[in-house]
Amino acid sequence: MTTRRAVCPGSFDPVTNGHLDIIGRASRLFDEGIVAGLINKAKSSLFTVDERIEMLAETTAKYGNVKIDSFHGLLVDFCRDRGIQAIVKGLRAVSDFDYELQMGQMNHSLAEIETLFIPTNPLYSYLSSSLVKEVATYGGDVSALLPESVNRLLVDRLR
Ligand code: PNS
Repeated sequence: MTTRRAVCPGSFDPVTNGHLDIIGRASRLFDEGIVAGLINKAKSSLFTVDERIEMLAETTAKYGNVKIDSFHGLLVDFCRDRGIQAIVKGLRAVSDFDYELQMGQMNHSLAEIETLFIPTNPLYSYLSSSLVKEVATYGGDVSALLPESVNRLLVDRLR
């Protein structure tokens, strides 16, 4: 029987409780979940790829069937190389939908990879890594939105 594998791709700079909600829910639907951090040389990130991977490994260990990896280039090439059949994305609001639909259609036309959307838990519908970083930069408390260890690293990094 084929192993059903899904990827949750993203920048994860840093991983938030919103990401973890989607990763945990996706992990229950598939035999194996792969969380893939994008290595994007064009986009400056607060945390290095290694730091992001370490944070993801620590915070997803509880799910049991989740592996962490990183990729650059096209997501569909990563999926083909790893035998991944589906991309899982969280949808926070209608505003996410246009671009996500476009990417889902492009990825299907490129490699017949399916994209599945999971509605974000409303607790996290306003949450994004960039907003968390902005709020934390100016001293705002984002501890309810991140795993404790990630919040500690973020506060340290911005100090
Ligand atoms: O967390 P992000 O930055 O919103 O994640 C975006 C990501 C990594 C999912 C998206 O940019 C992506 O898939 N990039 C890989 C490059 C690619 O395949 N581009 C074509 C998309 S149709």
